[in-house]
Amino acid sequence: MNNSDQMVFSVFSGESGENPFPIFAKMRAMGSVIPISFPMGGTDRQAWMVTRMEEAMQVLKDSARFTVDSSTIDGSNDVRQTLTGNADPSAPPTFFTGYSMLSVDEPDHRRLRGLVSKTFTPRYMESLRPRVQKLADELLDRVQAHGEMDLVKDYAAPLPINVISDMLGVPQEDRAQVHVWSNAIAHGLGLGKLEPGVAENIRSFGEYTAHLVADKRRHPADDLISQLIAIEEEGDRLSEAELNSMITLLIFAGHETTSNLIATGSLMLLDHPEQLEKLKADLSLVPSAVEELLRFNGPSTILGPRYATEDTELDGQQIQKGDMVIVLTKSANRDEQQYTQPEELDITRKINRHLALGQGIHMCLGAPLARVEADIAFTTLLKRMPNLRLRIPRDSVNWKFTLSSQGLADLPVVF
Ligand code: HEM
Repeated sequence: MNNSDQMVFSVFSGESGENPFPIFAKMRAMGSVIPISFPMGGTDRQAWMVTRMEEAMQVLKDSARFTVDSSTIDGSNDVRQTLTGNADPSAPPTFFTGYSMLSVDEPDHRRLRGLVSKTFTPRYMESLRPRVQKLADELLDRVQAHGEMDLVKDYAAPLPINVISDMLGVPQEDRAQVHVWSNAIAHGLGLGKLEPGVAENIRSFGEYTAHLVADKRRHPADDLISQLIAIEEEGDRLSEAELNSMITLLIFAGHETTSNLIATGSLMLLDHPEQLEKLKADLSLVPSAVEELLRFNGPSTILGPRYATEDTELDGQQIQKGDMVIVLTKSANRDEQQYTQPEELDITRKINRHLALGQGIHMCLGAPLARVEADIAFTTLLKRMPNLRLRIPRDSVNWKFTLSSQGLADLPVVF
């Protein structure tokens, strides 16, 4: 392993701990685009890490030159291969093993995203506010009298899973199990390898979704899954395999990241008491604080790998057709060429752009929903629990690391 490989390894293995930012700063000093030799999915593709905003935008805004689907270049799809390595091909597809908008580019991407993009408009998301508010209040009602809670288990985790499940029509009694599968899958994905049990969890998640679809075919309801089934039954716009992949993607993407934002964001505020005080004094700052929390230490560490469709150049580096290009979100979000004092948390910062929700055609579909949820979650928490404090010493806080994201296992607080 060379120097940059070691740095990357220490971040993704969790070895560098909760604060990988000094490593990212070193990587930025090495270059905007640095070679690493991590093999993924058993292949020895050359891989590159993109550490700065400008080059990240060049990659993400040009899906013709940098595709998410390597099989369109050389017939092999590293990510899918890794995930399907020991999966049963007869199992119902999920977005890990099948095709979803996340893993294809145009024209399929436009077709698949177009089927749900009308549901995820900021206007529609705004209309969900009363429901999200009610959920947030109910969760805090349960713990208010105790004077303490685990902010992850009691608040940050249940809020988003219930919101997305309501939208999709996932029955109440199944949500805890779905959460367990998603968690296990997220934590079991590693660079080029799967932890034991992940293939089984992916299979169970796919089978559960296929049963849910079969059930909704018989008993359609006023929910997004029923709407997607109607589209699939209409004809050639959505196949059954794509339907299953889409639903698993929406469930998975719709909650893990948002709960990480709420939990990690709360801890970041507790770490910066002067910012927390400023926010409590003026809750109209919450939307701007949410953008800064996303930038400062948002849930995703990297974006899904892209692959060069042609020999090309990026910041002086010669990228060969087929090379893997990985955008390091958390590094670009602290790029000193983009932000003044990027290592400071400043909830009043005017942010033009950040990468926490991606950029380009794959930019987060659920961004308007995540923003509404985070806005309500922080506002409600700070209004109802203005004396929020950690219940354990700061260095006992438990982090969890996955390949693409970082979050908290729990967060004991008193209020
Ligand atoms: C704070 C919460 C969230 C964060 C940090 C987040 C982050 C991201 C990022 C970084 C991407 C781009 C991935 C890439 O380019 O490789 C993405 C895509 C996506 N996100 Fe989110 N997300 C969040 C919440 C949600 C929610 C609530 C949903 C709701 C269903 C959602 C659904 C999706 C989907 C479907 C895509 C794929 C879009 C495409 O490929 O066109 N996300 N998200």
